[in-house]
Amino acid sequence: MAIRFSNEEFERLKALLPVYDWGLRTLMTKLGIIHEDLSNFQKKGAIDFIHSRIKAPESIAQKLHEMGLDITAENAKKHLKDIAGARIICPFATDIYFLAGIIRSMPGVNILKEKDYISSPKRSGYRSYHLVVQIPVFFSGKTEDVTVEIQIRTEAMNFWATLEHKARYKYRGDIPQNLSDELATIADKIAELDHRMFTIHEIISMINEGNGHD
Ligand code: GTP
Ligand code: MG
Repeated sequence: MAIRFSNEEFERLKALLPVYDWGLRTLMTKLGIIHEDLSNFQKKGAIDFIHSRIKAPESIAQKLHEMGLDITAENAKKHLKDIAGARIICPFATDIYFLAGIIRSMPGVNILKEKDYISSPKRSGYRSYHLVVQIPVFFSGKTEDVTVEIQIRTEAMNFWATLEHKARYKYRGDIPQNLSDELATIADKIAELDHRMFTIHEIISMINEGNGHD
């Protein structure tokens, strides 16, 4: 049976979600400016694209259930860091660290937590850089800090995570051993490919510099 909010708690959640949306939109404006500046003026293709989403109530309920918590709006606010989420997709792993540095120095973005699942991949093989940030939002005569999770990953890491997420969903979190072994092996291969493609990119950049191109 699907895990759901009670009607009363769902009304409470509905009052909460717009605040997350305001925080996320504030962050997306900031990230959008960085994206435009990098590509138009600094001629740096460090960002391919940026996604954002507010977690669906059903997914919030499911996650609280998995954490062994009551399905309440208060628990969602208190325990979930990814109700609002932004995902930045980059060409290369080096771009990820460059962007994490930019986010760290942004005014109006306070870093709560950082996790480098690239230098320390998860057992599943998952790789990404995570930042949990707080964005101050002013409304109703007061400022509230809104928590947003930012995931930064390469196209290749994203390809893998999307597929693995589908497998996890399909098998309700219990992926058969042979499939999870295969996914972990592929994750390593993808990391190696990312690295080899970056080397080619570096060589092309050096040739272009020699030719007077940027
Ligand atoms: P921990 O207690 O440290 O595990 O923190 P957490 O579970 O709150 O956050 P974590 O950083 O582990 O994961 C946050 C998000 O990253 C998840 O909601 C997923 O979007 C993504 N993620 C983490 N691990 C995996 C994984 O193994 N596969 C996929 N596809 N996504 C993952
Ligand atoms: Mg986790």
